[in-house]
Amino acid sequence: MSLFDCVVARDASCRKYGQLQEMFGTEDVLPLWIADMDFRTPEPIINTLHSVVTQPVQGYNLEHPQWKKSVTEWYKKRYGFDVQEGWLHFVPGVIRTIVLSLMSLTKPGDNILTCTPIYDPYPNFIKTSGRKLIQTGLIEKGGCYYFDWSDFKEKLKTCKMFLFSSPHNPGGMVWDRETIEKVNRYCHRAGVIVVSDEVHCDLTLPGKQHIPFFTVNEMLDSQSIVLTSISKTFNTPAIQGGVVIIKNNDLRNKFYGFLDNCYLAETNSLQQAAIYSAYTNCDEWHQRLLTYLSDNVEYVKKEIETNCPLISVVYGGASYLLFLNAEKMKLSDENLNSFFVHEAKLGLSPGIQYGPGGEGHMRLNVGCPRSVLVESMRRLKEAYKNRNNV
Ligand SMILES: Cc1ncc(COP(=O)(O)O)c(C=O)c1O
Repeated sequence: MSLFDCVVARDASCRKYGQLQEMFGTEDVLPLWIADMDFRTPEPIINTLHSVVTQPVQGYNLEHPQWKKSVTEWYKKRYGFDVQEGWLHFVPGVIRTIVLSLMSLTKPGDNILTCTPIYDPYPNFIKTSGRKLIQTGLIEKGGCYYFDWSDFKEKLKTCKMFLFSSPHNPGGMVWDRETIEKVNRYCHRAGVIVVSDEVHCDLTLPGKQHIPFFTVNEMLDSQSIVLTSISKTFNTPAIQGGVVIIKNNDLRNKFYGFLDNCYLAETNSLQQAAIYSAYTNCDEWHQRLLTYLSDNVEYVKKEIETNCPLISVVYGGASYLLFLNAEKMKLSDENLNSFFVHEAKLGLSPGIQYGPGGEGHMRLNVGCPRSVLVESMRRLKEAYKNRNNV
């Protein structure tokens, strides 16, 4: 039995369970939606957090002395790349930092490019911050996504910034070197800043290789920002935080100057201690997690392929988020969601929320014990059979 087989009781104080009524209009669903995992956060991290919260005085703290070193060692070990400590800045969350990069490096009215379908906060905050959302549709083929390069190049011409989800959410697409080099080259030619959101990078499963954006070449260093975080991989989104990596001195001065002088990314001893612990003490847990998730992905793919021939799986090798393509079921988005909620009794994220290209899709979170997936697939198979008379 794997440690990830253990079903951990989570109460209604977490969004995954506490928002069922609000999200699905019923509590009678297995929740496979929001992007956290039902696994215990690794013990070394819990112990570290415990030691921070039990300090008798919760005053202003200094930076955790080793958090930056732990990040550089992680990058060396996992990606074979020498990140320098001076390139790093602690940030209070990935999405917040993308919004801050928009505010400090672009102006209201500027065009901002994203792919579509895309993690739904992107379009939201681009529009809310007074920028203009421009999107390039990804091409879905054989369970993977590809860029439409001529559309991408054309749209870049009017844009100031490209928000790159790498690996991609939804669908966990690990972009290959050629794709990342092309993004790099075309953005360089167009003078477009790239913010590479790599929050899912350490969930790249065996057999695939994530390429951090700053490792491809130096051409775009003055226009690129990479964001990462322990939150997805080590299941710590409750204690919001992240790491930004910028190689270029001028861009660093500009963006980190903005963060520091506006007091937007102050030291957070809880998060920095967790970062240190995750990157230093959780290697074995991490390896075991990747193996477990890999088996979960394979299990779900096989079940769906065998039992639901009108549904196919989009999955590019990273994260625990599979994008199910149910277009062949020929249901409206409302009816597709209703099929999953009321017939299969499963709470997934409707694909339509990820924008154009998400129609007829549902996002499924496999970051849970196998027994939960077995029950989910049983329910799906049954509902599918009843609906399609098979
Ligand atoms: C692509 C992507 N970026 C950012 C986030 C959230 O990061 P944070 O909680 O640090 O803002 C998520 C969460 O699912 C995500 O999928």
